This record gives sequence, C-alpha cells and structure tokens, in this order.
Amino acid sequence: MSGEIMESLIRDISLAPMGQMKIDWVAAHMPVLNALKKEFERDLPFTNQRVVICLHLEAKTAYLAKVIQAGGAEVAVVASNPLSTQDDVVAALVAGGIKAFAWYGATDEEYHNHLNRALDFGPDFIIDDGGDLVSTIHTKRRELLSKVRGGAEETTTGILRLRAMESAGDLSFPMIAVNDAQCKYLFDNRYGTGQSVWDGIMRTTNLVVAGKTVVVAGYGWCGKGVAMRAKGLGARVIVCEVNSIKANEAWMDGFEVMPMVEAAPYGDVFITVTGNKDVIVEEHFQVMKPGAIMCNAGHFDVEINKVHLSSMSKSVQVVRPNIEEFTLQDGKRLYLLAEGRLVNLAAGDGHPAEVMDMTFALQALSLKYAAQNANILAHVVHNVPEEIDQRVAELRLESLGLKIDHLSEGQKAYLEAWHD
Ligand SMILES: NC(=O)c1ccc[n+]([C@@H]2O[C@H](COP(=O)([O-])OP(=O)(O)OC[C@H]3O[C@@H](n4cnc5c(N)ncnc54)[C@H](O)[C@@H]3O)[C@@H](O)[C@H]2O)c1
Repeated sequence: MSGEIMESLIRDISLAPMGQMKIDWVAAHMPVLNALKKEFERDLPFTNQRVVICLHLEAKTAYLAKVIQAGGAEVAVVASNPLSTQDDVVAALVAGGIKAFAWYGATDEEYHNHLNRALDFGPDFIIDDGGDLVSTIHTKRRELLSKVRGGAEETTTGILRLRAMESAGDLSFPMIAVNDAQCKYLFDNRYGTGQSVWDGIMRTTNLVVAGKTVVVAGYGWCGKGVAMRAKGLGARVIVCEVNSIKANEAWMDGFEVMPMVEAAPYGDVFITVTGNKDVIVEEHFQVMKPGAIMCNAGHFDVEINKVHLSSMSKSVQVVRPNIEEFTLQDGKRLYLLAEGRLVNLAAGDGHPAEVMDMTFALQALSLKYAAQNANILAHVVHNVPEEIDQRVAELRLESLGLKIDHLSEGQKAYLEAWHD
C-alpha cells in the first residue's frame, strides 16, 4: 500500500475495481465533463493547488474529482452525507491518487473526524455541498482561513447559509453560488431530483405509485420536479407551500394546494423538499392514515421531525433496507425512508449522470474561475458568470448534436432599441 493510500480513511481499498467500473459508466454519459477534462489536461488550471471536495461520494462526484485532478490539482474528497457514500467508489478514487476520508454509515463523530482530516490536507480551494466545510473552516479550523482562497457551493441550503455568513460580515473568502446558475437549478433541481427521488422511493418500497395520493411539501425547483414526475406516474398530487406565488403556480400546474395539517389525512406518500425544518411534526403524524410513507429530499434530515415521531412511538423496527416502521401508541404504523435523509441519495444513486454532467461542468468551470480570479474576487457570494452558464448549455447541446438559431445583427438591434 502506498503512503497516499495509507493517509486516506476509507472502508476497503480492495473494492476499487467495482468502484472504477461505476466511474467508467457515468463518465461515458458525461460528455460536457469529458470535453472539460481534455481542456484541463492541456491548460492545467489548478497546478500547485490543493482542492477539497465535500459532496455526495458516488460515481458522478468521483468523476468530477478526476477532472479536477486532470487539471493539475491535488484532490481530497469527503462526504457531504454519510449515507450517500459508496465505499467502492471512494476506494477507486484512492487507488487513482485522490485522498478520501469517508465511509458509508459514518457516525456523527466519524463524519466530523473525516471533515477535519480532509481539511488537514490544507485546501487552496473547496467545493462544498450544504455548507458544512465552509462553516467548519470558519468556526473550528480558523487557522485555514489564510490558506483557503475560494470555492463553490452546490446546493440551495448551502447558499442560504453562505448568504447569512456574508450578511453578518463573517465570510472570509469568495464562494461561487453554483446552485443559482440556470444550468443547475433548471435541470438538476427540477429534472434530477424529480427523477431520482422517485427512483429512490420505488426501489426502496417496491410499491406502485399510480393511484396513490402523494403530498409534496415545497414547490421550489426540486418540488416542481418531484410533483411533475408523481403526476406522470399516475399519482394524485397535493402541494403544501408557505409562499403564495409558488402556491398559485402549483394550483395552475394542476395540483391540489392545502396546508400540511389538511393534507396529512389524505397522503399515502409524503415528500418534503423545502430546505426548512419541522415541515411534518406531531400534529401531522397524529392524523395520517395507517401505513403512510414519508421521505425527505431536502438537504438536511430536519424536515420530518424524527424526535416527535420516535417519542410518539412504542416501537421502531427496520422492515426492509432503508424503511423504518414506527408503531404509534394507538397501534398505527407509519413508515420513514432512509432515516429522513435525502431519499434519492441515501436510498438511491442520486441524479442521473447526464444531469450531473451539467452541474459538475458548472462546478469545474466555477472552480477554474475562482482559481484565476482569487486575488480580485471580494469575500462574498458570487453568481456563476453568465459566460460559464452559456458555455455549459452550448457544450451540452453540442454533445446532443442539437443546433439552434442565432440572432441576426438586425434582430439584435431591434431587441436593443427603445423606439420604432
Ligand atoms: N435531493 C436532492 O438531490 C437535492 C437537489 C437539489 C437541492 N436539494 C435541496 O432541496 C431543498 C429545496 O431546494 P430547492 O432548490 O427546491 O429550493 P427552493 O428555494 O427553490 O424551494 C423551496 C420551497 O420550499 C418552500 N417552503 C419553505 N418552508 C416551507 C414549509 N414549512 N412548508 C412548505 N413549503 C415550504 C419555499 O417557499 C420554497 O418554495 C434544499 O434543501 C436543497 O438544498 C436537494
């Protein structure tokens, strides 16, 4: 075993060949990242830079790590969620010279140890998912603040946390808000979450969706995708929202709209995807139908209140992998998938490769932008530059063999003029 391998903290290096097969499969379906890999191998934008990536450690993320490594970086990876780590994939990364600090099912203590070990690597740049890396650096690992020069954030929840840090004047390096790029939320949050959440639910429960009543809490980009796919699978869909505009949108998209307390008695399947806490709590558990199934697709496992559910239950048992059965005092049984963590990642393989191709192309190009501009970027949250968003869209169309029309000079002038 080489020194590199010994420094990593993973479950079992002998799983590497299976992990490599998974990485090869997704790489074959990620043409935009493939194009960027070639460009990075030529231009080496990350020479002498150390990059720590904190994302769901499955095959698509692994390929992103390989692309950044191809750009000259030394790379370390750590999990953004212990239940989404695939031990064979991290083994393949370690075998390929990337440091990894993660294993499936890490306890809270192990998870925080992994974060710290990854940070010991001394990153110049980071990729974060949900803000745990950034917040650890700014609280417990402040000695790193002078080394870290910038980074990129993957998801809605992480960006909310970053903006709170920025408002408090606490953000000490520039972060690029990858989630807020059009090529991210329009495709990843909507179509990626829409498909993979149902993949996770269906493979975990092996139950039919058609004819069921599905309650979707949150009609943001993810919720729209989850509701749209539920409808396509033949479910009756109820949307719960706190935003009047989104509620109107859901209604006009053809869904029932009502508060959770009214929806609770109807739902066969509940999916929370709000980024908020306590979306389903005791008063809702009380009025749910026997046999109701609940899961979460929001970033943290706080949307379905597990403390309430446990305290109302006289027993809890695992009845299938990733399905816990809670028997309430009155004998009613309710089911929770994947411990209330992201169901598409903890009980599935996450978003389809073609969708993550666009998201991770944005990550790769945003990291390159951060590396090239670290000295001049203010220590705030930055949008992904429009040129990067456009470039990813163009590369994707090119990979699909699709052509589009282009504005003529006359059309451009017409659109820019204010008078006849
Ligand atoms: N599962 C995944 O793979 C995946 C992918 C992308 C994002 N996410 C996460 O999913 C969550 C939602 O992301 P998004 O991009 O859709 O965000 P968004 O901001 O577009 O939408 C969230 C919606 O939830 C609503 N909401 C907030 N509190 C609510 C409550 N108590 N009840 C009902 N509705 C409520 C908001 O009004 C908003 O419309 C975030 O935590 C994000 O990080 C998960």
